Amino acid sequence: AAAEKGGYDHYMLKEIHEQPTALRQALSGRIDLERGTADLDLTFPAGFLDSLDEIQFVACGTSFYAAHYAAHLTESFADVRATAELASEYTVDGGGDPRRTLTVAVTQSGETADTLGALRRANGTGIRTLAVTNTLGSTVTRDADDSLFIRAGPEIGVAATKTFASQVTTMALLSVFVAQERNALSAADARDVLTDLRGLPGAVQQVLDDAGDVREAATAFVDASAYFFVSRAHGYPVALEGALKLKEIAYDHAEGFAAGELKHGPLALVTEDTPILAVLTEGTRPEETLNNVAEAQTRGAPAIGIVDGSVETNSLDTAFSVPSLGPVTPLVANVYFQLFAYAIANQQGRSIDKPRNLAKSVTVE
Ligand code: AGP
Repeated sequence: AAAEKGGYDHYMLKEIHEQPTALRQALSGRIDLERGTADLDLTFPAGFLDSLDEIQFVACGTSFYAAHYAAHLTESFADVRATAELASEYTVDGGGDPRRTLTVAVTQSGETADTLGALRRANGTGIRTLAVTNTLGSTVTRDADDSLFIRAGPEIGVAATKTFASQVTTMALLSVFVAQERNALSAADARDVLTDLRGLPGAVQQVLDDAGDVREAATAFVDASAYFFVSRAHGYPVALEGALKLKEIAYDHAEGFAAGELKHGPLALVTEDTPILAVLTEGTRPEETLNNVAEAQTRGAPAIGIVDGSVETNSLDTAFSVPSLGPVTPLVANVYFQLFAYAIANQQGRSIDKPRNLAKSVTVE
Protein backbone atom coordinates (compact mmCIF):
# COMPACT_ATOMS: atom_id res chain seq x y z
CA ALA A 1 0.00 0.00 0.00
CA ALA A 2 2.90 2.36 0.82
CA ALA A 3 4.22 1.82 -2.71
CA GLU A 4 0.82 2.65 -4.20
CA LYS A 5 0.95 5.93 -2.34
CA GLY A 6 4.26 6.70 -4.00
CA GLY A 7 6.03 7.29 -0.69
CA TYR A 8 3.35 9.68 0.61
CA ASP A 9 1.50 8.95 3.86
CA HIS A 10 -1.89 9.33 2.22
CA TYR A 11 -3.41 9.19 -1.26
CA MET A 12 -4.69 12.70 -0.67
CA LEU A 13 -1.18 14.06 -0.24
CA LYS A 14 0.01 12.12 -3.29
CA GLU A 15 -2.88 13.54 -5.33
CA ILE A 16 -2.18 17.09 -4.12
CA HIS A 17 1.38 16.63 -5.38
CA GLU A 18 0.18 15.16 -8.68
CA GLN A 19 -1.53 18.42 -9.63
CA PRO A 20 1.21 19.81 -11.91
CA THR A 21 1.08 16.58 -13.94
CA ALA A 22 -2.72 16.49 -13.92
CA LEU A 23 -2.87 20.08 -15.16
CA ARG A 24 -0.34 19.41 -17.92
CA GLN A 25 -2.56 16.54 -19.06
CA ALA A 26 -5.69 18.71 -18.94
CA LEU A 27 -4.02 21.30 -21.16
CA SER A 28 -2.13 18.98 -23.48
CA GLY A 29 -2.93 19.58 -27.16
CA ARG A 30 -5.79 21.92 -26.25
CA ILE A 31 -4.04 25.29 -26.56
CA ASP A 32 -3.01 26.98 -29.80
CA LEU A 33 -1.20 30.07 -28.55
CA GLU A 34 -0.38 31.39 -31.99
CA ARG A 35 -4.00 31.52 -33.08
CA GLY A 36 -5.21 32.31 -29.57
CA THR A 37 -7.64 29.38 -29.51
CA ALA A 38 -8.71 26.58 -27.18
CA ASP A 39 -8.92 23.42 -29.26
CA LEU A 40 -11.46 21.12 -27.67
CA ASP A 41 -12.84 18.06 -29.38
CA LEU A 42 -16.45 19.27 -29.11
CA THR A 43 -19.08 19.78 -31.75
CA PHE A 44 -22.25 21.78 -31.34
CA PRO A 45 -25.01 22.31 -33.90
CA ALA A 46 -24.22 25.21 -36.27
CA GLY A 47 -24.97 28.57 -34.64
CA PHE A 48 -25.86 26.97 -31.28
CA LEU A 49 -23.16 28.60 -29.14
CA ASP A 50 -23.61 31.90 -30.92
CA SER A 51 -27.30 32.09 -30.09
CA LEU A 52 -27.03 30.83 -26.49
CA ASP A 53 -28.86 32.75 -23.76
CA GLU A 54 -27.54 30.81 -20.80
CA ILE A 55 -25.08 28.17 -19.65
CA GLN A 56 -26.06 26.30 -16.48
CA PHE A 57 -23.38 24.34 -14.64
CA VAL A 58 -24.83 21.70 -12.31
CA ALA A 59 -22.81 19.74 -9.75
CA CYS A 60 -22.39 18.77 -6.08
CA GLY A 61 -19.76 19.42 -3.43
CA THR A 62 -16.30 20.25 -4.69
CA SER A 63 -17.46 19.87 -8.28
CA PHE A 64 -20.08 22.55 -7.52
CA TYR A 65 -17.34 24.92 -6.40
CA ALA A 66 -15.45 24.18 -9.62
CA ALA A 67 -18.70 24.87 -11.49
CA HIS A 68 -19.12 28.14 -9.59
CA TYR A 69 -15.61 29.19 -10.63
CA ALA A 70 -16.32 28.13 -14.22
CA ALA A 71 -19.54 30.16 -14.33
CA HIS A 72 -17.59 33.26 -13.26
CA LEU A 73 -14.97 32.68 -15.96
CA THR A 74 -17.59 31.99 -18.61
CA GLU A 75 -19.48 35.19 -17.85
CA SER A 76 -16.33 37.25 -17.97
CA PHE A 77 -14.96 35.79 -21.23
CA ALA A 78 -17.92 34.58 -23.27
CA ASP A 79 -20.49 37.34 -22.80
CA VAL A 80 -23.24 34.90 -21.87
CA ARG A 81 -25.25 34.45 -18.70
CA ALA A 82 -23.69 31.59 -16.74
CA THR A 83 -24.91 30.10 -13.47
CA ALA A 84 -23.80 27.32 -11.15
CA GLU A 85 -26.58 25.34 -9.51
CA LEU A 86 -26.49 22.64 -6.89
CA ALA A 87 -27.63 19.54 -8.74
CA SER A 88 -29.90 18.51 -5.86
CA GLU A 89 -31.71 21.88 -6.11
CA TYR A 90 -31.78 22.15 -9.89
CA THR A 91 -35.16 22.54 -11.56
CA VAL A 92 -36.00 23.46 -15.11
CA ASP A 93 -39.11 25.42 -14.01
CA GLY A 94 -39.17 29.03 -15.09
CA GLY A 95 -36.07 28.62 -17.20
CA GLY A 96 -35.48 30.32 -20.51
CA ASP A 97 -35.74 28.88 -24.01
CA PRO A 98 -34.40 25.29 -23.79
CA ARG A 99 -33.06 25.59 -27.36
CA ARG A 100 -30.87 28.50 -26.21
CA THR A 101 -29.62 26.83 -23.03
CA LEU A 102 -26.63 24.57 -22.45
CA THR A 103 -26.49 22.54 -19.25
CA VAL A 104 -23.07 21.30 -18.19
CA ALA A 105 -23.00 18.44 -15.67
CA VAL A 106 -19.74 18.57 -13.72
CA THR A 107 -18.85 15.34 -11.92
CA GLN A 108 -15.43 13.80 -11.56
CA SER A 109 -16.81 10.30 -10.96
CA GLY A 110 -19.57 10.60 -13.54
CA GLU A 111 -21.80 8.59 -11.18
CA THR A 112 -23.16 11.11 -8.65
CA ALA A 113 -26.91 10.47 -8.42
CA ASP A 114 -27.89 14.09 -7.73
CA THR A 115 -25.96 15.30 -10.76
CA LEU A 116 -27.32 12.54 -12.99
CA GLY A 117 -30.82 13.48 -11.79
CA ALA A 118 -30.31 17.13 -12.75
CA LEU A 119 -28.95 16.07 -16.12
CA ARG A 120 -32.04 13.90 -16.65
CA ARG A 121 -34.29 16.88 -15.90
CA ALA A 122 -32.39 19.03 -18.40
CA ASN A 123 -32.49 16.30 -21.05
CA GLY A 124 -36.23 15.98 -20.47
CA THR A 125 -36.87 19.54 -21.65
CA GLY A 126 -34.72 19.18 -24.75
CA ILE A 127 -31.86 21.28 -23.37
CA ARG A 128 -28.51 20.38 -24.94
CA THR A 129 -26.18 18.84 -22.34
CA LEU A 130 -22.46 18.40 -21.86
CA ALA A 131 -20.62 16.26 -19.30
CA VAL A 132 -17.35 17.43 -17.74
CA THR A 133 -15.86 14.38 -16.06
CA ASN A 134 -12.74 12.45 -15.16
CA THR A 135 -14.18 9.03 -15.93
CA LEU A 136 -14.29 7.46 -19.37
CA GLY A 137 -17.37 5.30 -19.89
CA SER A 138 -19.14 6.66 -16.78
CA THR A 139 -22.92 7.07 -16.69
CA VAL A 140 -22.73 10.83 -17.24
CA THR A 141 -20.88 10.32 -20.53
CA ARG A 142 -23.73 8.13 -21.78
CA ASP A 143 -26.50 10.44 -20.59
CA ALA A 144 -25.11 13.76 -21.89
CA ASP A 145 -25.02 14.83 -25.54
CA ASP A 146 -21.25 15.24 -25.45
CA SER A 147 -18.35 14.88 -22.99
CA LEU A 148 -15.24 16.79 -22.09
CA PHE A 149 -12.62 14.90 -20.06
CA ILE A 150 -10.54 16.54 -17.37
CA ARG A 151 -7.76 13.91 -17.60
CA ALA A 152 -6.72 14.10 -13.93
CA GLY A 153 -5.97 10.38 -13.61
CA PRO A 154 -7.56 8.24 -10.86
CA GLU A 155 -8.30 9.95 -7.55
CA ILE A 156 -8.52 7.61 -4.55
CA GLY A 157 -8.75 10.04 -1.62
CA VAL A 158 -12.37 10.80 -0.75
CA ALA A 159 -11.48 14.49 -0.56
CA ALA A 160 -11.24 15.81 -4.12
CA THR A 161 -8.01 17.71 -4.80
CA LYS A 162 -6.44 17.27 -8.22
CA THR A 163 -9.83 16.78 -9.85
CA PHE A 164 -10.92 20.23 -8.64
CA ALA A 165 -7.83 21.81 -10.22
CA SER A 166 -8.36 19.87 -13.45
CA GLN A 167 -12.08 20.68 -13.58
CA VAL A 168 -11.51 24.42 -13.24
CA THR A 169 -8.68 24.33 -15.79
CA THR A 170 -10.67 22.32 -18.32
CA MET A 171 -13.71 24.55 -17.91
CA ALA A 172 -11.52 27.64 -18.29
CA LEU A 173 -10.58 26.19 -21.69
CA LEU A 174 -14.27 25.59 -22.35
CA SER A 175 -15.07 29.20 -21.52
CA VAL A 176 -12.44 30.39 -24.04
CA PHE A 177 -13.81 27.93 -26.61
CA VAL A 178 -17.35 29.28 -26.14
CA ALA A 179 -16.06 32.86 -26.17
CA GLN A 180 -14.30 32.42 -29.48
CA GLU A 181 -17.39 30.82 -31.08
CA ARG A 182 -19.35 33.88 -29.94
CA ASN A 183 -16.66 36.36 -31.02
CA ALA A 184 -16.66 37.64 -27.45
CA LEU A 185 -12.90 37.52 -26.82
CA SER A 186 -10.19 38.93 -29.09
CA ALA A 187 -7.33 36.63 -30.07
CA ALA A 188 -5.00 38.82 -28.00
CA ASP A 189 -7.17 38.54 -24.87
CA ALA A 190 -7.63 34.81 -25.43
CA ARG A 191 -3.87 34.46 -25.74
CA ASP A 192 -3.46 36.15 -22.32
CA VAL A 193 -5.88 33.72 -20.69
CA LEU A 194 -4.29 30.73 -22.40
CA THR A 195 -0.84 31.90 -21.31
CA ASP A 196 -2.10 32.10 -17.72
CA LEU A 197 -3.44 28.55 -18.02
CA ARG A 198 -0.10 27.36 -19.40
CA GLY A 199 1.54 28.80 -16.29
CA LEU A 200 -0.58 26.74 -13.90
CA PRO A 201 1.55 23.56 -13.58
CA GLY A 202 4.66 25.59 -12.75
CA ALA A 203 2.85 27.89 -10.33
CA VAL A 204 1.25 24.96 -8.51
CA GLN A 205 4.68 23.33 -8.25
CA GLN A 206 6.00 26.47 -6.55
CA VAL A 207 3.27 26.15 -3.90
CA LEU A 208 4.04 22.45 -3.42
CA ASP A 209 7.68 23.30 -2.87
CA ASP A 210 6.45 25.37 0.10
CA ALA A 211 4.57 22.46 1.73
CA GLY A 212 6.95 22.31 4.70
CA ASP A 213 6.22 25.94 5.60
CA VAL A 214 2.48 25.32 5.50
CA ARG A 215 2.85 22.30 7.77
CA GLU A 216 4.82 24.36 10.23
CA ALA A 217 2.45 27.33 10.13
CA ALA A 218 -0.55 25.05 10.64
CA THR A 219 0.75 23.81 14.02
CA ALA A 220 -0.18 27.19 15.52
CA PHE A 221 -3.82 26.78 14.47
CA VAL A 222 -4.56 23.14 15.16
CA ASP A 223 -6.61 23.94 18.30
CA ALA A 224 -8.75 26.60 16.66
CA SER A 225 -12.47 26.45 17.43
CA ALA A 226 -13.39 27.19 13.80
CA TYR A 227 -11.76 28.30 10.56
CA PHE A 228 -13.25 30.94 8.28
CA PHE A 229 -12.27 31.24 4.63
CA VAL A 230 -13.08 34.42 2.73
CA SER A 231 -12.55 36.01 -0.64
CA ARG A 232 -14.39 37.63 -3.52
CA ALA A 233 -15.12 36.96 -7.19
CA HIS A 234 -12.98 34.10 -8.51
CA GLY A 235 -11.64 33.62 -4.98
CA TYR A 236 -15.07 32.99 -3.45
CA PRO A 237 -15.52 29.41 -4.73
CA VAL A 238 -11.95 28.73 -3.56
CA ALA A 239 -12.87 29.95 -0.06
CA LEU A 240 -15.85 27.57 -0.07
CA GLU A 241 -13.65 24.73 -1.27
CA GLY A 242 -10.97 25.46 1.36
CA ALA A 243 -13.58 25.21 4.09
CA LEU A 244 -15.07 21.99 2.70
CA LYS A 245 -11.64 20.30 2.69
CA LEU A 246 -11.14 21.12 6.36
CA LYS A 247 -14.60 19.91 7.32
CA GLU A 248 -14.20 16.65 5.44
CA ILE A 249 -10.79 15.55 6.60
CA ALA A 250 -10.21 17.35 9.93
CA TYR A 251 -13.83 17.18 11.21
CA ASP A 252 -13.41 20.75 12.35
CA HIS A 253 -15.90 23.54 11.90
CA ALA A 254 -14.96 25.56 8.85
CA GLU A 255 -17.01 27.94 6.70
CA GLY A 256 -16.38 29.81 3.53
CA PHE A 257 -17.90 33.26 3.18
CA ALA A 258 -18.06 35.94 0.54
CA ALA A 259 -15.81 38.43 2.35
CA GLY A 260 -18.40 41.21 2.02
CA GLU A 261 -20.90 39.09 3.94
CA LEU A 262 -18.80 38.84 7.11
CA LYS A 263 -20.25 42.07 8.46
CA HIS A 264 -23.80 40.90 7.68
CA GLY A 265 -23.71 38.21 10.35
CA PRO A 266 -20.77 35.80 10.50
CA LEU A 267 -18.58 38.43 12.22
CA ALA A 268 -20.46 37.53 15.42
CA LEU A 269 -18.66 34.15 15.33
CA VAL A 270 -15.19 35.68 15.10
CA THR A 271 -12.89 35.42 18.13
CA GLU A 272 -9.18 34.99 18.75
CA ASP A 273 -9.75 31.24 18.30
CA THR A 274 -11.12 31.53 14.75
CA PRO A 275 -8.34 32.04 12.22
CA ILE A 276 -9.43 33.76 9.05
CA LEU A 277 -7.92 32.55 5.78
CA ALA A 278 -8.22 34.85 2.78
CA VAL A 279 -7.41 34.72 -0.92
CA LEU A 280 -6.03 38.18 -1.69
CA THR A 281 -4.77 37.80 -5.25
CA GLU A 282 -5.63 39.00 -8.71
CA GLY A 283 -9.16 38.08 -9.68
CA THR A 284 -10.49 38.53 -6.12
CA ARG A 285 -10.77 42.31 -5.50
CA PRO A 286 -8.17 42.01 -2.72
CA GLU A 287 -8.29 45.60 -1.35
CA GLU A 288 -11.92 45.22 -0.34
CA THR A 289 -11.36 41.78 1.18
CA LEU A 290 -8.38 43.02 3.14
CA ASN A 291 -10.69 45.56 4.83
CA ASN A 292 -13.03 42.74 5.85
CA VAL A 293 -10.07 40.73 7.13
CA ALA A 294 -8.99 43.74 9.20
CA GLU A 295 -12.45 43.79 10.83
CA ALA A 296 -11.91 40.18 11.90
CA GLN A 297 -8.39 40.97 13.15
CA THR A 298 -9.84 43.77 15.30
CA ARG A 299 -11.86 41.02 17.05
CA GLY A 300 -8.63 39.12 17.70
CA ALA A 301 -8.74 36.64 14.81
CA PRO A 302 -5.35 35.69 13.36
CA ALA A 303 -5.27 36.35 9.61
CA ILE A 304 -3.60 34.13 7.03
CA GLY A 305 -3.54 35.43 3.47
CA ILE A 306 -2.62 33.98 0.11
CA VAL A 307 -1.09 36.91 -1.74
CA ASP A 308 0.50 37.72 -5.08
CA GLY A 309 1.76 41.23 -4.47
CA SER A 310 -1.27 42.88 -6.04
CA VAL A 311 -2.09 44.56 -2.73
CA GLU A 312 -0.09 45.67 0.34
CA THR A 313 -0.49 42.87 2.90
CA ASN A 314 1.82 43.81 5.77
CA SER A 315 -1.11 43.72 8.16
CA LEU A 316 -1.51 39.93 7.79
CA ASP A 317 -0.23 37.65 10.54
CA THR A 318 0.89 35.00 8.03
CA ALA A 319 1.22 35.31 4.25
CA PHE A 320 1.89 32.74 1.55
CA SER A 321 2.81 33.88 -1.95
CA VAL A 322 1.65 32.66 -5.32
CA PRO A 323 2.66 33.90 -8.76
CA SER A 324 0.02 36.03 -10.51
CA LEU A 325 -1.81 34.19 -13.26
CA GLY A 326 -4.71 36.54 -13.91
CA PRO A 327 -8.14 34.99 -13.32
CA VAL A 328 -6.74 31.57 -12.42
CA THR A 329 -4.50 32.85 -9.61
CA PRO A 330 -7.06 31.73 -6.96
CA LEU A 331 -6.79 28.17 -8.32
CA VAL A 332 -3.12 28.26 -7.37
CA ALA A 333 -4.00 29.75 -3.97
CA ASN A 334 -6.32 26.77 -3.41
CA VAL A 335 -3.30 24.46 -3.24
CA TYR A 336 -2.24 26.26 -0.02
CA PHE A 337 -5.70 25.56 1.40
CA GLN A 338 -5.37 21.87 0.46
CA LEU A 339 -2.00 21.67 2.20
CA PHE A 340 -3.37 23.55 5.21
CA ALA A 341 -6.38 21.24 5.59
CA TYR A 342 -4.13 18.22 5.21
CA ALA A 343 -1.71 19.52 7.86
CA ILE A 344 -4.50 20.25 10.37
CA ALA A 345 -6.11 16.84 9.80
CA ASN A 346 -2.81 14.98 9.89
CA GLN A 347 -1.75 16.62 13.16
CA GLN A 348 -4.98 15.28 14.64
CA GLY A 349 -4.38 11.80 13.25
CA ARG A 350 -7.56 11.75 11.19
CA SER A 351 -8.51 9.07 8.69
CA ILE A 352 -7.61 11.35 5.81
CA ASP A 353 -8.24 9.14 2.80
CA LYS A 354 -11.49 7.72 4.16
CA PRO A 355 -13.15 10.30 6.39
CA ARG A 356 -16.00 9.07 8.58
CA ASN A 357 -19.52 9.12 7.08
CA LEU A 358 -18.35 9.94 3.55
CA ALA A 359 -18.12 8.00 0.28
CA LYS A 360 -16.02 8.83 -2.74
CA SER A 361 -18.96 8.64 -5.07
CA VAL A 362 -22.49 9.33 -3.81
CA THR A 363 -24.84 7.16 -5.83
CA VAL A 364 -28.03 7.89 -3.86
CA GLU A 365 -30.18 11.04 -4.09
C1 AGP B 1 -15.16 16.47 -2.34
O1 AGP B 1 -14.04 16.50 -1.54
C2 AGP B 1 -16.22 15.54 -1.92
N1 AGP B 1 -15.77 14.22 -1.72
C3 AGP B 1 -17.56 15.69 -2.64
O2 AGP B 1 -18.04 16.97 -2.32
C4 AGP B 1 -17.60 15.50 -4.17
O3 AGP B 1 -16.95 16.55 -4.82
C5 AGP B 1 -19.07 15.40 -4.60
O4 AGP B 1 -19.67 14.30 -4.00
C6 AGP B 1 -19.23 15.32 -6.11
O5 AGP B 1 -18.59 14.22 -6.66
P1 AGP B 1 -18.45 14.03 -8.21
O6 AGP B 1 -17.52 15.08 -8.73
O7 AGP B 1 -17.91 12.66 -8.40
O8 AGP B 1 -19.81 14.22 -8.80
